[in-house]
Amino acid sequence: MRERVLITGGAGFIGSHLCDALLAAGYDVRLYDNLNPQVHGNGAWPSYLTKHAELQCGDMRDAARLGRALEGIDDVVHLAASVGVGQSMYEIADYVGVNDCGTANLLQLLSKKPARKLVVASSMSVYGEGRYRTAPGAIVDNAVRSDGAIRAGAWDPVDERGEALVPIPTPEEKVPDLASVYALTKFSQERMCLLVGKAYGMSTVALRFFNVYGTRQALSNPYTGVLAIFASRLMNGNPPMIFEDGGQLRDFVHVRDVAQACRSAIEAAPTADGVYNVGTGRGVSIAELADRMRTLLGRPDLKPQLTGRYRIGDVRHCFAEIKKARHALGFDPKVGLNEGMAELVEWVRCEAPRDQVDFATRELSRRGLVA
Ligand SMILES: NC(=O)c1ccc[n+]([C@@H]2O[C@H](COP(=O)([O-])OP(=O)(O)OC[C@H]3O[C@@H](n4cnc5c(N)ncnc54)[C@H](O)[C@@H]3O)[C@@H](O)[C@H]2O)c1
Repeated sequence: MRERVLITGGAGFIGSHLCDALLAAGYDVRLYDNLNPQVHGNGAWPSYLTKHAELQCGDMRDAARLGRALEGIDDVVHLAASVGVGQSMYEIADYVGVNDCGTANLLQLLSKKPARKLVVASSMSVYGEGRYRTAPGAIVDNAVRSDGAIRAGAWDPVDERGEALVPIPTPEEKVPDLASVYALTKFSQERMCLLVGKAYGMSTVALRFFNVYGTRQALSNPYTGVLAIFASRLMNGNPPMIFEDGGQLRDFVHVRDVAQACRSAIEAAPTADGVYNVGTGRGVSIAELADRMRTLLGRPDLKPQLTGRYRIGDVRHCFAEIKKARHALGFDPKVGLNEGMAELVEWVRCEAPRDQVDFATRELSRRGLVA
């Protein structure tokens, strides 16, 4: 019998790519998704989904439907979530309800009939600031940016003597520093899954995704996916809007590599249970990314708008240390940024994204969440 995987949030960006990867590898796949209008616009199953997966519409908060979706399932990949750092700071009840209570519903059901494997999507946002080192080489895991420094536009964290800190890859052992409701829910999701999994003998892996990009990312959702947001701005004739000075480093990992990491986690032995970073190990600045996107979309005239403003909860630099996933899961990201962005642009050209960035920024500003 073929192994059957349930992907919650399977109609979304990462879920749909994972679905394709699992079907190609010989799994049967069922998707469970509430078709959240912020992601799917018209609330219909997206046309990019394959016909070979079984679709069940339902909400993570609806335990009865979720229970039906779990029938006959061997493995669960839990991706369904409200996704967006800024929005989580004012849609607090929604984020906690979907992410925490939704996960609690899933675990309540799995406690009666554990899956063979549970994989849960966590996030780099749990780290807060990434890891740094001082000039002499001491590791700094608690870098902070004071309000005063940020107001003065001194964006990079410094040590206690005011010397510049050097950003270095962030490993899984860095102590979490939760700076948004979204980060808090992602951390509690991963902890809840790991501890309930252990209690019931259910092999469990939490994957901390860094900045995932690729085709099918919701282009009109202004709360998530900086590459999709830049693409949608440029396609609408607007310049990319960049917070701070654009020097902040992030780790952009292609969605096919993320799908591969999920598959490896499903197939890993229970001895590999635990938490893993899923990134590339390389930091790229947001300004560089905007420039690459302008070139690829043929809009060099639309120079990025540097706002010099700061979003509450944003970190300066964070990119992944991926040795642990390489070693235990055989994770080996293959899609380079040039290749991945070129493919993304080909896809974006055929879409009609709505640019909602000004609306989202107004929402944050109105609540004092942009300094
Ligand atoms: N995309 C990234 O860069 C990134 C980074 C870190 C972590 N993650 C995590 O990966 C997972 C997948 O993210 P994505 O980028 O594919 O997002 P996405 O928004 O494209 O997909 C999420 C899916 O979940 C569904 N969903 C939302 N609320 C639901 C609910 N209450 N019940 C059932 N389904 C619901 C949505 O309709 C959507 O199809 C999320 O858990 C997210 O927190 C993503």
